[in-house]
Amino acid sequence: TEKPAGLIMIFGATGDLAKRKLFPSLYRLYKKGNLSEQFAVVGVARRPLTNEEFQASVKTSVENAIEDHKDLDDFVSHFYYHSHDVTDSSSYQTLKGIASDLDRHYSLEGNRIFYLAMAPEFFGTIAEHLKTDGLTDVSGFKRLVIEKPFGHDLESAKELNERIRKAFSEDEIYRIDHYLGKEMVQNIEVIRFANAIFEPLWNNRYISNIQVTSSEVLGVEERGRYYETSGALRDMVQNHMLQMVALLAMEPPIRLNTDEIRSEKVKVLRAMRTIKGDEVKDAFVRGQYGAGEMDGNAVPAYRKETMVNPESNTETFVAGKLLIDNFRWAGVPFYIRTGKRMAAKSTKIVIQFKDIPMNLYYGTEQTLNPNLLVIHIQPEEGITLYLNAQKSGQNMEATPVKLNFANKGTAGMNTPEAYERLLYDCMRGDATNFTHWNEVALSWSFVDNISEVWENTKAENFPNYESGTMGPRGADLLLEKDGFFWWPVTDLDVENC
Ligand code: BG6
Repeated sequence: TEKPAGLIMIFGATGDLAKRKLFPSLYRLYKKGNLSEQFAVVGVARRPLTNEEFQASVKTSVENAIEDHKDLDDFVSHFYYHSHDVTDSSSYQTLKGIASDLDRHYSLEGNRIFYLAMAPEFFGTIAEHLKTDGLTDVSGFKRLVIEKPFGHDLESAKELNERIRKAFSEDEIYRIDHYLGKEMVQNIEVIRFANAIFEPLWNNRYISNIQVTSSEVLGVEERGRYYETSGALRDMVQNHMLQMVALLAMEPPIRLNTDEIRSEKVKVLRAMRTIKGDEVKDAFVRGQYGAGEMDGNAVPAYRKETMVNPESNTETFVAGKLLIDNFRWAGVPFYIRTGKRMAAKSTKIVIQFKDIPMNLYYGTEQTLNPNLLVIHIQPEEGITLYLNAQKSGQNMEATPVKLNFANKGTAGMNTPEAYERLLYDCMRGDATNFTHWNEVALSWSFVDNISEVWENTKAENFPNYESGTMGPRGADLLLEKDGFFWWPVTDLDVENC
């Protein structure tokens, strides 16, 4: 059914993710009628709270996120709380009792979703206890939703995977990559496979290069402890960036279902050329932000942030050149870049088409702009196609024009947010927009080769970019040596049409 009954158990229910994303998303689903009336939520966390206190905190998080919030009392009446010790069997036994009571009380049909929204070091322990303490013995479905990071490298990811596989089969594991819940990331597939005009050109005969940028203005904030062990490569590239590349590069699946789509993505990741050892410095650039000014305010260097080593070697910026060795993409560079404290919060994909074979429009020294297809992922959502057309009043002189599609309705109740979609998909048992173990493993093995080099060689020039800029000079050189340049994301804004 589209709205199965069920119990959602959220581990980490007093944490930031639960408050900022999960509760508001559940409420949106509830408001839209996309949540079964037979639902209950058990919040699980260490600190002692009564059900009433927990419900009040859920209420506050929804109120903070959503303006129109009537029926909120009814919504929060489905929420319960358990103060938990993740390593203590008896605490799981209590939880099991609560779950069975709610199962009866709300007729939940024995369906259970376990959502792990907490520190990753406990993922394995919790999954094991869920099984050994009988919480996964259910008459309906059981699903595990697991937040990133899924391991720290291939080895730790494997170890984690083996532990959770003791309690859940691959089909029951929903590994979150929240980028896959974004409207315009999902749209990549539709743009490619629902239009006759792009797919024939979507290959190395017509595309010269693809650029994927995900820049952030925020610094590391309160997450220094985690970020020091991660850096931008593990935090953004291993998951979000490679997922976007896979969607851009995959072959048309024979059907739009979970297995087919995931298996096409896996093939892309398998075709991605390994970059290791000495090759790393030619294909990847790392950066770390120094002090600077953002919006008129002075901001500190990464090394001055809380919980950060004053001599930290951690990268807060990565740019890289990926090559996909298959028939479709041989010779087409995929450039990626992502970083914190950059000039703009922007995720954009630029597909640059090859130059026309012969330019009839200008003198020899002038060039035409190439055609570009820009997919605006965030903050604005849309698609822009850059063409050349006659400059008005100028006979036969070409000038670039834009065809814009702005995806309206970004604000408000009706546009689902990433987490809302993902929760909804999970409840309906659709794992398409979650990452399969094979994708995770391949992404880690790609990234591990790079982090190995970076960890063993100190970055001499850190910090190497000023806060509020688009990253270190090296990121520009990466494209310049191939005869390209980064299309400036700030100039590519989709106009409100
Ligand atoms: C998370 C990273 O996965 O993605 C964060 O851990 C990053 O460091 C965030 O800020 C970016 O997500 P979004 O949706 O704001 O682009």
